[in-house]
Amino acid sequence: MSLIINGAEYELASPPLTSLLNVLREEVGLLSPKAGCQQGGCGTCTVLIDGEPRRACLTPLGAIEGAAITTVEGLGDPRNLSPVQAAFHEHYAAQCGFCTPGMMMAATGLLARRPDATRDDVLEALAGHFCRCTGYVKIVDAVLSAAAGRVDTTRPEPEAEPGEPSVVIPGSPA
Ligand code: FES
Ligand code: FES
Repeated sequence: MSLIINGAEYELASPPLTSLLNVLREEVGLLSPKAGCQQGGCGTCTVLIDGEPRRACLTPLGAIEGAAITTVEGLGDPRNLSPVQAAFHEHYAAQCGFCTPGMMMAATGLLARRPDATRDDVLEALAGHFCRCTGYVKIVDAVLSAAAGRVDTTRPEPEAEPGEPSVVIPGSPA
């Protein structure tokens, strides 16, 4: 089986009934899609499949041969965030961060098909995405800010203060 993941082609050894979530996390090593309910109910595993937000936990590898997958790792990098990433940062829209990748991918999919998304559009796109930290207002505000282009996507490389250890986190926490 093969997939194009964040622009790179992968030949995958996982059996066809393996969930895309497990393929991404266990075989490919991309840890932004989170394993929450693993039953389609929480949204934290959401990725883009051919541009559409989909639950990776419910998607068997065999059903998406050759598809293009996008995860948070494919959106931007620390010095050049995507508009949605930058807006989440500016609005303090992530607390523990567990729901954040799914929220970001749903928002990214929404803005790709509806760049002038309204608050109702955002609420509809994020329906079924649960934030146990309950930061919904900031999340919705962040997506609306990205839709309106009110974000600065460039970020200086953070530097440690004197005496502070520098910490580099590749990707997101597991
Ligand atoms: S882990 Fe996929 S919807 Fe909850
Ligand atoms: S930020 Fe903690 S679950 Fe949403």
